Amino acid sequence: MKYTLPALPYAYDALEPVIDEQTMRVHHRGHHQAYVDKLNKILDPHPKLQLPVDDLLSRLETLPADIRTEVENNAGGHANHTLFWSVLAPGSAKEPTGEIAQAIAQDFGNFRNFREKFEQQGTKHFSNGWVWLCAENNGSLSVLTTKDHQSPLSRGLTPLFVMDLWEHSYYLKHQNKRPDYLAGMWSVANWPEVGRRWEDFRQNGYSNREWREAI
Ligand SMILES: [Fe+2]
Repeated sequence: MKYTLPALPYAYDALEPVIDEQTMRVHHRGHHQAYVDKLNKILDPHPKLQLPVDDLLSRLETLPADIRTEVENNAGGHANHTLFWSVLAPGSAKEPTGEIAQAIAQDFGNFRNFREKFEQQGTKHFSNGWVWLCAENNGSLSVLTTKDHQSPLSRGLTPLFVMDLWEHSYYLKHQNKRPDYLAGMWSVANWPEVGRRWEDFRQNGYSNREWREAI
């Protein structure tokens, strides 16, 4: 099995002015492609381990110790970016609706509280990483950050929404102002896709089936 770079579901300039075209091109064709290429290289001698990336990230402890960290870095880089592209969209609704909106209101009080918590966690996270909205196994929602390309899947959580905190995702436009980047991202958050993932999790206990089949 060879891993491949998924096509963006929109044009490189579609998220302007929130995310500039040059950043999107370098991020997708440069950074994401590199994780895909490295993962293929690492697993080339291990055909039995060429599993969907979410499966790899869910069972890291079972992988050979000599490749475990490299697999986590590059399978995580591939899976996290794939999710990131999917939960962004041009011209999106500014706020969630339906069941995911109700769940956010139940667990965070209201959408504004959730936004503040998400931006605070993303702002204070040190160095590279990701800020997530995840579903816990008990059905509650949580906001958390992970280092480098670590995935919540490795902790048994289901990712619903994510923003990339690596400088490569915002530095060309926002330089050192990560809070400005995070505040602007809400206008391109793809809440219908997040809501779909939440409903899938509620029905099936897992929200990544489509990506598992696609990657
Ligand atoms: Fe990135």
